[in-house]
Amino acid sequence: MSAFGPYVVVHVAVSVDGATTGFAPDIGRFYELARTWHEDVTLTGADTILAQEPALEAQPGPGPSDDGPLLAVVDSRHRVRAWRALRDAGYWSSVVALRSRLGWARGDDGAASVEELVLGDDRVDLGAALDALGKRGAKVVRVDSGGTLTGALLRSGLLDEISLLVHPCLSGSRGVESVERRWYGTGPPPSSTLSLAGAEAFDDGVVWLRYRC
Ligand SMILES: NC(=O)c1ccc[n+]([C@@H]2O[C@H](COP(=O)([O-])OP(=O)(O)OC[C@H]3O[C@@H](n4cnc5c(N)ncnc54)[C@H](OP(=O)(O)O)[C@@H]3O)[C@@H](O)[C@H]2O)c1
Repeated sequence: MSAFGPYVVVHVAVSVDGATTGFAPDIGRFYELARTWHEDVTLTGADTILAQEPALEAQPGPGPSDDGPLLAVVDSRHRVRAWRALRDAGYWSSVVALRSRLGWARGDDGAASVEELVLGDDRVDLGAALDALGKRGAKVVRVDSGGTLTGALLRSGLLDEISLLVHPCLSGSRGVESVERRWYGTGPPPSSTLSLAGAEAFDDGVVWLRYRC
C-alpha cells in the first residue's frame, strides 16, 4: 500500500499449481469479475502487452472508450510498440507509458503517440507510479499482469487486495518454467497474513478467492 496512493488490487487467473499461463482461463468470467472494482486505472507490464501485440495489431479496435479506465503500462525499456492499437482497442479511455529515467536503449517504439510518465532511475519506481496515478485522481488501480509485475508490487508492499480466479487444472510446467509462471513471480513472496475477503465456487469447479493484504 502506498501512503497517498489508490487502492491496488491484482486480479489474476491461476491454475491450481499457481501458474498464470499454460492453461486456458475462462476469459469471459475473468473480465466479468474484474468489473467488481470499477477501476480508474488498469496497470500492466510490458511483457503482458507484448504477449498480445500481434493480436492487437491484427484487429483494429473501435477507438478509445470515453468511459473506460486509463491504461498504464510499465515499460522502462521501450519494448512496447502497439500504443496506437492499445488506445484504439475500445477498452481504455487513454494510455500512459511508465518509464524510468535511465531506461535501456531507447528504440523507435512509436512512443511519440503515447503520454509518458518518468518515475525512477533504472526501473520504474512502482510506489511513485501509484502515487502519481493517485494524484491524477485514480482511486482504484487494477493490476492485470503476469507474475513478474505482480511479484514486484507484492514484495514492495503495494498491494491492498489479491484476487485469484483458481481454475481446476494443473499447468504442468516444470523446473525454471514453473517458477517463472507463478502469479507472484520468481522471488519469494513476503511472509504475511492475509484476511479472506470473499470465496465463491462456480459449478464448473472454478473458485474465486479474494484476500486483503
Ligand atoms: N493469468 C492471468 O490472469 C494473466 C494476466 C495478465 C497476463 N498474463 C500472462 O502473463 C505473461 C506476462 O507476464 P510476465 O510475468 O512475463 O510479465 P509482466 O507481469 O507483464 O511484468 C513485466 C513488467 O514488470 C516490470 N517489472 C518487473 N519487476 C519490476 C520492478 N522490480 N520494478 C519495476 N518494474 C518491474 C517490467 O519492467 P521493465 O519495463 O523494466 O522490463 C515489465 O514491464 C503473458 O504470457 C500474459 O499472457 C496472465
